[in-house]
Amino acid sequence: MKMKKSVIVSVFAAASLAFPAYSEVYRLVSGKSMMLFETAEAAGAPRLFLRQFGARVEDAQSALRLAWNRESSSSLGMEAPLAYSVLGDSAGNLNRFGGLAVEFADGCRTLDLAVTGVENRSTGGNQELVVSYADRHYPLQVVQTFRLRKGSEVFETSVTIRNTGRDAVRLRTMDSLAVFLPLVGDRFRLQSAAAQWASEGQLGTSEIVRGQTVSIGSRSGVRDAWMNNPSFMLEIGAPATETDGEVIGVALAWTGAWHAGVRRSQTDSIEICAGVDNFAGDYVLDGGRSIDLPTALFSHSTEGRGEISRAFHRFARLHWLPAGTKERPTLLNNWEGTYMAFTEPLLNEIMDGAVKAGVEMFVLDDGWFGRGEFARDDDHRGLGDWCINEKKLPHGLVGVANEAAKRGLRFGFWVEPEMANTRSELVTAHPEWVLREKNRELRQGRGGTQVVLDFTNPDVRDAIWKQLDAAYASVPSLAYVKWDANADFMNLGSPYLDAAHQGNLVYEYTMGYYDVLNRQRTKYPKVDLQACASGGGHMDYGSLRYADEFWTSDDTDARERVMIQWGASQFYPACAMASHVTICWGRKTPMKFRCDVASSGRLGLEMQPKKMTADELALVKNALAEYRRLRPVIQQGDLYRLVSPYERDYASLMYVDEAKRNAVVFVYGLSRRMQQNYVPPLHLQGLDPAKKYRLRELNTWPKSWAHSKLLKRPDAYRAEMADGVAPVSGEALMKFGLPIWLGTDDYDSAVFELFCED
Ligand code: GLA
Repeated sequence: MKMKKSVIVSVFAAASLAFPAYSEVYRLVSGKSMMLFETAEAAGAPRLFLRQFGARVEDAQSALRLAWNRESSSSLGMEAPLAYSVLGDSAGNLNRFGGLAVEFADGCRTLDLAVTGVENRSTGGNQELVVSYADRHYPLQVVQTFRLRKGSEVFETSVTIRNTGRDAVRLRTMDSLAVFLPLVGDRFRLQSAAAQWASEGQLGTSEIVRGQTVSIGSRSGVRDAWMNNPSFMLEIGAPATETDGEVIGVALAWTGAWHAGVRRSQTDSIEICAGVDNFAGDYVLDGGRSIDLPTALFSHSTEGRGEISRAFHRFARLHWLPAGTKERPTLLNNWEGTYMAFTEPLLNEIMDGAVKAGVEMFVLDDGWFGRGEFARDDDHRGLGDWCINEKKLPHGLVGVANEAAKRGLRFGFWVEPEMANTRSELVTAHPEWVLREKNRELRQGRGGTQVVLDFTNPDVRDAIWKQLDAAYASVPSLAYVKWDANADFMNLGSPYLDAAHQGNLVYEYTMGYYDVLNRQRTKYPKVDLQACASGGGHMDYGSLRYADEFWTSDDTDARERVMIQWGASQFYPACAMASHVTICWGRKTPMKFRCDVASSGRLGLEMQPKKMTADELALVKNALAEYRRLRPVIQQGDLYRLVSPYERDYASLMYVDEAKRNAVVFVYGLSRRMQQNYVPPLHLQGLDPAKKYRLRELNTWPKSWAHSKLLKRPDAYRAEMADGVAPVSGEALMKFGLPIWLGTDDYDSAVFELFCED
């Protein structure tokens, strides 16, 4: 490779730079990390190399000089650390891997991308590197953008592919992130969160040995944050902990089928990829068309997994969620309280209970729509008909909203726009509007009649949006919408796409979903939106571009939620994590435990409140009041995971506000043993060492419950440093830890507030 003299060009330099300018260096620099790129001529064309990605150093030239040998060689030949690794030419060698693979009309399956321009932008502290590439022979252009927003530790990358010719180009793989890093370590572990219904966010870690590719993904087409969440952490070198070790965290902002993975070569170089999984066939990019691949987000930490999570949470709140710094209201959802069997008087009674408990909003779930034979009284019918089920709600949605308003409650309701039942007016009139294959039986899902609408078809999207819009507009005080999706692609065909473009289904369906979400967000910007897909099937940064929160899981068992929310917290912030207190369906857990677990996310209730005893109601009411007081800390604070439920028989986490004046600590006993009342002191994190904090225990049981059968706990203080005792320094709390008492009965829990008085 011919190298010319390198010069450092900071992105802070105002001027943008157009090619040719060989051997230029560019960097994106955050407070803690940096990406160091270099354009250089290789194999007769300018290329862009990713020289370093890691901890920030002041002298970028030094980091550049230390970049490993520029290439990595194996029996397959040399692989160059290109900023966008593609199947084809890799600076003079054949790269058989890469994130983008195409087929041109003449059968050629390799790419040879030369850099045609690099633009550095720095506006208001936001840094951007826009790289333009063109194939050296075929009319195909790629624009790759790396972005770093002011104050953020999360890098974004996105890719646009343009077919500037007349013939169609087939996209065989279409990843947005495809970076190649030579020799950054000799040990790699990948942590990901696998899931299925009622069991989201289950963390697992696998070692990646030489020659291995560890990949994860989902091919649901709809509920793609299941199977695996579109995110992972890569630990480099020694296994990372919450506080130590080098980690790269990656999340793909995409709601449809996806894959991601890390390939470790025989020479210890790694390639990190993430993108759309077009498993239904090649995406056909017609002449003159372009396609935007989803944004991939990534962050680097030398301080373990905790720092990656906090970086993503801050990024989500400050830069990504539609209104990430807005306080999220508490609410009561009627689903687990009534399912579809409700009437107006019953809803009024539930709302009365909600007011007594102290929630701020009432959300009406599934069952309010469909008419005549398609009235939604069970899950066999009605989806697709977003008109009032007059049998149940003679006064319409607005009637319920008015009853809510009378009680001082805001109001929202449930929809499932992407779905229909074959037993509906919609599908009766338009059987061609559902995903189906020509010569196959129509496979149907929930209720035996559920099908997925063909959201690649603009007519379908218009028709659904028209109905939704009318339903929303009928409720002038509308404050919240829960958008559900309860099926996967069961039929791999779009009646709208022609035979040549059937492979475009996976991508175009998700773009259709975003189109309708976007219409809602644009027309009703103040209406909060929950992304739900049978629980956490839409717990992804693609949905969260439009939605304020996700329904974390249909599993509301608090013991399970400790694990599920632990997994969700790896990448997603508390303000977006809907967590509801319900009655116990199977496992019995104390009401206090249920409140304490749900209080670490966006707290709500999901029950018929009258099923609570007076003591339970008192406890819930108090927990909701404390939550409302402390939600700025919980929803907007930094999360520190202190004790993992994967490692111990109890778990603990805490939130600290930005000023480090207030913190909330949660401790959850899981299955404790006799004579184990004292757990090791909780070494708190994130406090100001110099500040003095006082402690107060919250959500305590009413006195009358001191001898509860479920939970025998003395009236003694939980913590040695109990309420009213002199304050102690943040330094001592972090270094010596907070000694606490935890009951040996299962599911004892505690919540502490720490606050500075001066
Ligand atoms: C899904 C959701 C639930 C509820 C039901 C209604 O399962 O995850 O919260 O809304 O649908 O049918």
